[in-house]
Amino acid sequence: MKFNCVASATLWLAAWAVAGPAQQHDETLSRPKPLKHIPTFGLGTWLSEKSKVSDAVEYALTHGYNHIDAALIYGNEREVGKGITRSKVHRSDIWVTSKLWNADHRPDRVHEAIGKTISDLGVRYLDLYLMHWPVAFVPGGSGTELDNKTSILTTWRAMEDAVRAGLTRHIGISNFARADVEALLKEAKIKPYAHEFETHPYLQQQHFVDFHSDNGIKVIAYSPLANTNPTYDGNKPVAPIFEDPIWRDMAERKNCTVAQAVLGWGLQRGTVVIPKSVHKEYIKENLNARRVDFTEEEMQEIAAADKKVRFNDPGKGWGVRLFADLDDPTRLDGDEEVSEL
Ligand SMILES: NC(=O)c1ccc[n+]([C@@H]2O[C@H](COP(=O)([O-])OP(=O)(O)OC[C@H]3O[C@@H](n4cnc5c(N)ncnc54)[C@H](OP(=O)(O)O)[C@@H]3O)[C@@H](O)[C@H]2O)c1
Repeated sequence: MKFNCVASATLWLAAWAVAGPAQQHDETLSRPKPLKHIPTFGLGTWLSEKSKVSDAVEYALTHGYNHIDAALIYGNEREVGKGITRSKVHRSDIWVTSKLWNADHRPDRVHEAIGKTISDLGVRYLDLYLMHWPVAFVPGGSGTELDNKTSILTTWRAMEDAVRAGLTRHIGISNFARADVEALLKEAKIKPYAHEFETHPYLQQQHFVDFHSDNGIKVIAYSPLANTNPTYDGNKPVAPIFEDPIWRDMAERKNCTVAQAVLGWGLQRGTVVIPKSVHKEYIKENLNARRVDFTEEEMQEIAAADKKVRFNDPGKGWGVRLFADLDDPTRLDGDEEVSEL
């Protein structure tokens, strides 16, 4: 499908004017304002089983969450959408983020991909659409064959068109190195609203977080519970954070669980946290992280315990040096071995 921005925008704006934004879950003709800022606490959905994620999303949205982090590549957006619909929470009271997959970086495919996501999620617009990785794959190729002809800026321009067309309120990035963010900031007509990247007590990247605050870009911390995601098992020789004596001690001091302490730290440092769970008790437990706070001395203690270990890095498999100027960058064969621990 060719992305005809003007036609698309005209159609969208006409629909908006008649119905108001996203009346999917509320048939009133009033036009409630969507959330102004990204909520600081969201529910992650990567690896959430299709059979469980609708219940998890519905439960979260009816128990204090108002932010869902989704992605086309997670393969469960239809089920996430069912949870949103079943919650009966008004669309404008929810923040929905999704992501553009690497095989959809060509401009015509950007439009198609966001259209599919919007339709699968059962919403009329997204609050935030992220470029999932700064890496383009050849569409319909081997899956991870690199498309060196489609630049980040070309894809960004198409994402800017998606904002103009009313398909998403904001656009942003994910998994970018600092140099890539700087290059994009020089050219972007619409600035990235947020950057979603891996950061937690074992990969704090405080300078990188501060760089975003200085540039007015929100940081969404993914894998906020560090190496708790089971796919990270054995990825690096680091004991599970739930067994870490520093965090067990912090949790005891705060009279909370380790998960709450870790997430509370993520919030206190100004990042948005999006822990994933399909268990009601964890979903509820995690939200109570909002009541945890640390003294300045405790924040320094935690800062000193940074391990600078990255758990999510598909760069090697793709043959791409990711995170070049950040902690624990991708090492390709032939690169000098550097000890990370
Ligand atoms: N932009 C990107 O490239 C990118 C990459 C990675 C992640 N993300 C986003 O970030 C979200 C969160 O990251 P993540 O899923 O990697 O890791 P995470 O949220 O840090 O950890 C998830 C794991 O922790 C478990 N868990 C959650 N709360 C718990 C608690 N209170 N006690 C014990 N275990 C608990 C979950 O179990 P159960 O599920 O079994 O309940 C799950 O196995 C993802 O779901 C996704 O939306 C984005």
